[in-house]
Amino acid sequence: MQKLLLIPKQIVTVNKKNEILFNECVEVTDGIITKIGKYSDDDISNFNGEVSKKTNLTLIPGFVQTHIHLCQTLFRGLADDLELLDWLQLKIFPFENAHNKESLRASVRLGINELLLGGTTTILDMGTLRYQEVIFDELIKSGMRCFAGKCMMDINDLFPAFKSNTKDELKDTFELAKSFHNINNGKVKYGFAPRFALSCSEELLIETSKMMSDFRGSLYHTHSSENNKEIEEVRKKYKKDNIDFFNSLGLLSDKTILAHGIHVNENEFSILKKQKVNISHCPSSNLKLGSGIANISRYLKEGISVSLGADGAPCNNELNIFTEMRLAALIQKPIHGATVMDAKTVFRMATIIGAKALGLGKEIGSIEVGKKADLVLMDLETPFMSLINDKNNIYSKIVYTAGRNNIDSVMVEGEWLVKDKKSLLFDQQKLRFDGKTELKKLLSRI
Ligand code: GUN
Ligand code: FE
Repeated sequence: MQKLLLIPKQIVTVNKKNEILFNECVEVTDGIITKIGKYSDDDISNFNGEVSKKTNLTLIPGFVQTHIHLCQTLFRGLADDLELLDWLQLKIFPFENAHNKESLRASVRLGINELLLGGTTTILDMGTLRYQEVIFDELIKSGMRCFAGKCMMDINDLFPAFKSNTKDELKDTFELAKSFHNINNGKVKYGFAPRFALSCSEELLIETSKMMSDFRGSLYHTHSSENNKEIEEVRKKYKKDNIDFFNSLGLLSDKTILAHGIHVNENEFSILKKQKVNISHCPSSNLKLGSGIANISRYLKEGISVSLGADGAPCNNELNIFTEMRLAALIQKPIHGATVMDAKTVFRMATIIGAKALGLGKEIGSIEVGKKADLVLMDLETPFMSLINDKNNIYSKIVYTAGRNNIDSVMVEGEWLVKDKKSLLFDQQKLRFDGKTELKKLLSRI
């Protein structure tokens, strides 16, 4: 039995009451939170396991990002200042198409490293067309919690070399789901990932959705209604708006995660609500690709679930939950008023709401007895921070001021992956060197 006692300054529980606990400890047994409460000095000195005394730090749940492309990390800074369809056609499809196993591995490792050092412990990854097993291999080795899946494409009018055929897409996806769903102690799960309406036939979209019934706890993850030209193309092809089209194929449910949801009509708002669809909001990506500003205020009023994601490195150009939280709050305010998207709401989107969107609301996303110990220690007492520390401003500190520099240590299911600001998984210089080497080779293959 592996036992650990965490002694932080304060605990941001994100439980139903949004309790913040001072001078309490969290006991972890075999990766599960088994006790939260006061411990006397005697209790602590007699504790039979690792004691982590960090009475200057704040314990929070690990962040959850519900839309990521690990395969794109290598392409950061190589596709700036373009809008979606040009960005895909001129840069991202040719780049992803040029991946081999080694370049994909280097990209995924850079992404995992960045996410973990930034306090993100769970992701939903969109995968790529080929060598998906490499992405799983690295995710498994990292110990991170994730949903991932092969990015499915059987149509590609923008870059025809980068696609497969319907039959192989379905067969390969099924085999991957069989191999990788619910493994690594359940930390790795399958997220079916048809890329978007323009890259998938109706048959592929429908058959993929049917496949989910064989894999309990899996998800359906796709892009939708991101860009005006994209939805115009969908309209031309199917005589319907994007979400309306997905709904007509029977794809939408509480197991669906749609990235973006920016250009959405009234009817589609009601569809999303009725089908309990989850929106993954990616504010940096939406701004940088000039896609638009999603009506998050409306989603929240309607009770539609909204979680956060950084999307891929080349449309962001970070994989940083702090940037997403800050922007998610700030960009709504000029439109809907300064009182919307308060810091607590945004912090919950980045933790418990993300967890629930993934169907993991009972396992992660808050610090409660019985949940997995996916935990982050943050330093909120630096000179750049508000000088007041109390219950009323802790979310403000995290959402409006803190950044990745304030992350001290990160664990997934009781296992330290970042400690004292250092990755326990990766040598940073080697990671960068390998990335550079693989990127150079990849560019020479284009
Ligand atoms: N739509 C289809 N593919 C992509 C992608 O890779 N990134 C974003 N942001 N949107 C997409
Ligand atoms: Fe995306």
